[in-house]
Amino acid sequence: MFTPAALGTPLNPSATKVLLLGSGELGKEVAIACQRLGVEVHAADRYDNAPAQQVAHYAYTLDMSDPAALRSLVEKIRPDLIVPEIEAIATSALAELEEEGFTVVPTAHATKLTMNREGIRRLAAEELGLPTSAYAFASTFEEFEIAVGQMGYPCVVKPVMSSSGKGQSVVRDEADIVPAWEHALAGGRVAAEKVIVERFIDFDYEITLLAVRSIDPATGKPATWFCEPIGHRQSGGDYVESWQPMAMSATALDTARSVAARITGALGGRGVFGVELFIHGDDVYFSEVSPRPHDTGMVTMATQRFSEFELHVRAILGLPIDVTLTSPGASAVIYGGVDAADVTYTGLAEALALPEVEVRLFGKPECFSRRRMGVALATAEDTDTARARAAEAAAAIVAHEVD
Ligand SMILES: Nc1ncnc2c1ncn2[C@@H]1O[C@H](COP(=O)(O)OP(=O)(O)OP(=O)(O)O)[C@@H](O)[C@H]1O
Ligand SMILES: [Mg+2]
Repeated sequence: MFTPAALGTPLNPSATKVLLLGSGELGKEVAIACQRLGVEVHAADRYDNAPAQQVAHYAYTLDMSDPAALRSLVEKIRPDLIVPEIEAIATSALAELEEEGFTVVPTAHATKLTMNREGIRRLAAEELGLPTSAYAFASTFEEFEIAVGQMGYPCVVKPVMSSSGKGQSVVRDEADIVPAWEHALAGGRVAAEKVIVERFIDFDYEITLLAVRSIDPATGKPATWFCEPIGHRQSGGDYVESWQPMAMSATALDTARSVAARITGALGGRGVFGVELFIHGDDVYFSEVSPRPHDTGMVTMATQRFSEFELHVRAILGLPIDVTLTSPGASAVIYGGVDAADVTYTGLAEALALPEVEVRLFGKPECFSRRRMGVALATAEDTDTARARAAEAAAAIVAHEVD
């Protein structure tokens, strides 16, 4: 694992080089955090002018799920750290490159396991014995009917290779079975793949627990830090708003940290992990984990002394971690609301006139109605007030098509 004794100078032979695989809004903040330390940033995505590419030293457009294309890019750049931002990457190529001495964040194995719901669920439930919803996998419609029968109504159906709620639906009765199967097949990342059927968990609330694995300066050894829990609300498989801290019972918080420590310890490596958990009373269910900063964690740009993106960069470089919460706060997603090749945004003055509000516009080159184009951030004396401020700010900002 690459642990620099010294940092280089960008654009010079000494440069410390990071290659971002995926250049969306989360990658953009990682790139900015790298820039602040003089780390040379190489940003890759499947389209030109992606958010992180706009703030990187170098930009590349390629199909990152193509192993040969990915390998040739890595061999050309020879990055010190390969930092995946998305799941849809040729993880077999990452495993080979890691074997050859490249550092993949947090590890090639973690990127492979977490891109497939089957890999991470079997690790969590069957190897580590973590509490999860009951589940079954199915590759054919016959197996699917049996799986739904085993889980009972309602149950949640998801392609094993998908994210952001794609192909996901809830089966509430027999009439939903065929539509759920067809929806899952259409929404998966690869054709004719498996689906997972999960028993529906009637949770009180869900959280993301950010776990940060770096080196403890006091001991020189690997250690894990936990940010305050982040509450969030999902709609159609995408997060709509998040807030931090989420008030939890001491027992639930303790269990949540223990679950997060076990899953991130098993994945290994360094960096930020977003551990998604469902909470019912004092019971904690593991749902899934991102081996990278989490979208709901954008709230930390307002609430923590160091955002999850700054912490990710510190962690991958093996630097000290400080997870101090400076204020309660919230984030609210700004959707495009329109399909257009070019847009302008109005409402910034209204949004920013609200107390303790800031706004990030990601600069995505193309706008879609349901595309996340920005985020409103707010702090306040309590999370309810912060949520109201962030929601009001997000609603004030409107994208308009340019003819
Ligand atoms: N078994 C379940 N019981 C109840 N609700 C569930 C269950 N599984 C998923 N959900 C709900 O659906 C949301 C999305 O599920 P999940 O995180 O598995 O999918 P995803 O496509 O990876 O979403 P994202 O990419 O936004 O994290 C969860 O945050 C939760 O609100
Ligand atoms: Mg999720």
